[in-house]
Parts: sequence; C-alpha cells; structure tokens
Amino acid sequence: MRFVKGLALACVLAGLLATVGVAKLSGELEIFSWWAGDEGPALEALIDLYTGMFPDVEVINATVTGGSGVNAKAVLKTRMLGGDVPDSFQVHAGQELIGTWVVADRMEDLTFLYEQEGWLDLFPSDLIGLLGTEDGIWSVPVNIHRSNVNWYIPANLTAWGVEVPTSWDEFLAIAPTLEAQGIVPLALAQNWTVNHLWESVAVAVLGADKYAQLWDGTLAFNSADGIAVWEMLDRILVYTNADASSLSWQQATDMVVNGQAAFNIMGDWAAGYLTTTLGLTPNVDYGWAASPGTDGIFIALSDSFGLPKGAPNRDNCLAWLRLLGSQDGQDAFNPLKGSIAARVDSDLTKYNVYGQSAAADWKSDTIAGSLAHGFAANEGFMNDFATVMEIFLAGRDPVQAANAAAAIAAQNGI
Ligand code: GAL
Repeated sequence: MRFVKGLALACVLAGLLATVGVAKLSGELEIFSWWAGDEGPALEALIDLYTGMFPDVEVINATVTGGSGVNAKAVLKTRMLGGDVPDSFQVHAGQELIGTWVVADRMEDLTFLYEQEGWLDLFPSDLIGLLGTEDGIWSVPVNIHRSNVNWYIPANLTAWGVEVPTSWDEFLAIAPTLEAQGIVPLALAQNWTVNHLWESVAVAVLGADKYAQLWDGTLAFNSADGIAVWEMLDRILVYTNADASSLSWQQATDMVVNGQAAFNIMGDWAAGYLTTTLGLTPNVDYGWAASPGTDGIFIALSDSFGLPKGAPNRDNCLAWLRLLGSQDGQDAFNPLKGSIAARVDSDLTKYNVYGQSAAADWKSDTIAGSLAHGFAANEGFMNDFATVMEIFLAGRDPVQAANAAAAIAAQNGI
C-alpha cells in the first residue's frame, strides 16, 4: 500500500516537474494560511508535492487556527504592516483581496505567470475577473468552495421521522418535531458561522438576482426585502444550540455526526472534514443538499495565494504558485479539501461523489458570491457586518439590524 502510494506520488512528481519546471531552488518558502490542524491535510498534500520537487527548499507552514481566517487575517495585517512579509498567503478571491492588499499596492502583478502557464484559458474568465483589476491579476486560485450546503446523517433523519427541508418554512415546520425528541434542529458555531448562515438565508429569501443587487447597491439593506432576511434568520435561530458562540465550525459539524443535531449549514470544507478527517463516506454515512430554498444556486468562494511585494523568497514563491495553479496540484489538493478545482480541466475521477456533484452544480447553477468568505464585499464591510451580527444576536431586532447593515454599506462604498 505504502509502495503504491509512493509510486503514485513519484508519477505525479514526474508530471509536475515537466510542467512546473526543474529549476534548482533552495532556501525557504513561508506559506501563511488558516488551514491548521484538521483543516490541514489538503495543504500538506500540496506541500509534499512541492518538497518532492524542490527538496532543498525548507517549507515553513505558518498557520493561525480559526475558521474563515478570523484570527489569521488580523495576524497577517500586523505582519504585513510591520514588514514581516510571508512569501505567500491565503486570501479569498474577490473584494477581500482587491479591496485590501491590492488597493494598498502590496501585491505583485501575476499576469506574466498567467500568460506563461496558459491560465488565461484554464481558469474561468469570471474568476480571473475577481482576481484582477485593470492593472493586473493578483493571485492564483487553488479551489472553488460552495458555501450553501446543508449537511445531515440520512439514517438519523429516518429515525427521527423527518426529511431534508427544501425551504426554510419546511425547516421551521419540522424543527419542533426534532426538538421534542431532544435534537437540536440546526447546529451553529461561533459568530462567523452566523454570517455564513445569513448569506444562505439571504439567497433563499431574496433569490440570486436580488441578493446580487445588495452588492451593486440597487437593493437597500433596509428595504422590505432586506428586513425580511433578518426576520427569517431570527425565526431560524430559535432552533439552534445555545452554546454556539463557544464552538468551532468542526464542533458544530460533530453535533450532526454524533446525532445531537439534525442539520448544519456549512461550506463544503465540511465534506473535507467529514471524509478526510473523520473517514466518513459521502452519500452513505452523511448526506447533503443545497441549503433550504437555494436549490440551483451555488454560493461560491475561492481560496487563492499571491506574491506580496517584498516576499523574501520570490522564486520559491513563484514555483509554489505554479504548483497550486497546475492541474496535478489542484487535483491533489481539492479531493482532500472538499472543494473542486478552479481550473476547467480538472480530472473528476480523482474526486468522490460529493466533489463530482459539486462540480456538476458549479457548471449548471446560478452563481452567487459569498459575503462571509470575501467574494461579495470589501473587508471594511465584512468587519462592520460582524459587529452588526453581534448586536443582532444580543438584541434580535431585525429592523435595527437591517438599518445598521444599510449604514455600513454606505460607509464602505456599497
Ligand atoms: C473559508 C475558507 C475555506 C475554509 C473555511 C473554514 O473562509 O475559504 O477554505 O478554510 O474558511 O475555515
């Protein structure tokens, strides 16, 4: 078994050396991300490929734990402003990248790399648009994650006599049945996961078109539609666990696995956790569906890595970016991560049934941008939105929250 694994790695490495190049590199490569602990295996697989190709480079895997980068982004800011620049760092495609480090002129333009590698044709043009401005292309996407997924254990639902809800009204109708059996209807974790839930509820209440209008400024956050989102969230939160704010996203997923909770709305990094970390089989041990009311809509986000100006090991970073943009790199990383490749030529035979279904949905669904993961709005809005959510969780006043969201949209240029 070990021999077969070694042989497979050797074949991938031979292919990669042909595409990524055979330059002799040495020194260090520091990669900064929030893929720590049980979020780490996919990144570690990429690093293994890198060190297989460049054994003289010491890779420093600098992680700061905390789902959705809640802690890592603050540490990164301190390091960047203090001149302690990592060679490459994780950043979401979209406004999170463009509105921060690109505006601040801290990133190198990678257009030349896209041209050398043929990536202008190998990544979807809409995605390249999110990674670029008229002055350049600023990072390399390693994946596409889906945010609006509802996770559950099929056998448990059967035992509890409920079905997967296709709308939030259906969820609200079955939630008392679950509660009566001592089951938490919807597992929730720390506050960023409520922002994450909010975007799924917003898409369900508004539909994809009106949701997009929130971000282009043509639908006010405190319109009747905008208020309706917070009202629905308020009704849903009644059926979540009281200790949510002290749990990591993995612990909320665990509640579903352990039979304490029926459902959890989480991005498909949960598929990575369920399969890669917990060893569960998709479609057998666990099931999934679009979050209620969002069938046919794919709320997307993408993790990417760039080359900050002043990176101490620029050549090593360029080799890293070439690897994570390559077909072999993407198809080593994403099957473990629960995401799909950003490239259009991914080998789907390497993905499990969940990944294959996500790839099919990515092609056929209407695409919406994630707020909680940097795609839809700039960092200023995201930070302020987290405060709006905290106030909402304390006071549960939908109109006040909708007005506050409208105010921060104006302040942050939305
Ligand atoms: C997202 C990120 C995912 C995953 C998740 C949970 O923001 O894009 O790759 O890491 O956070 O931490």
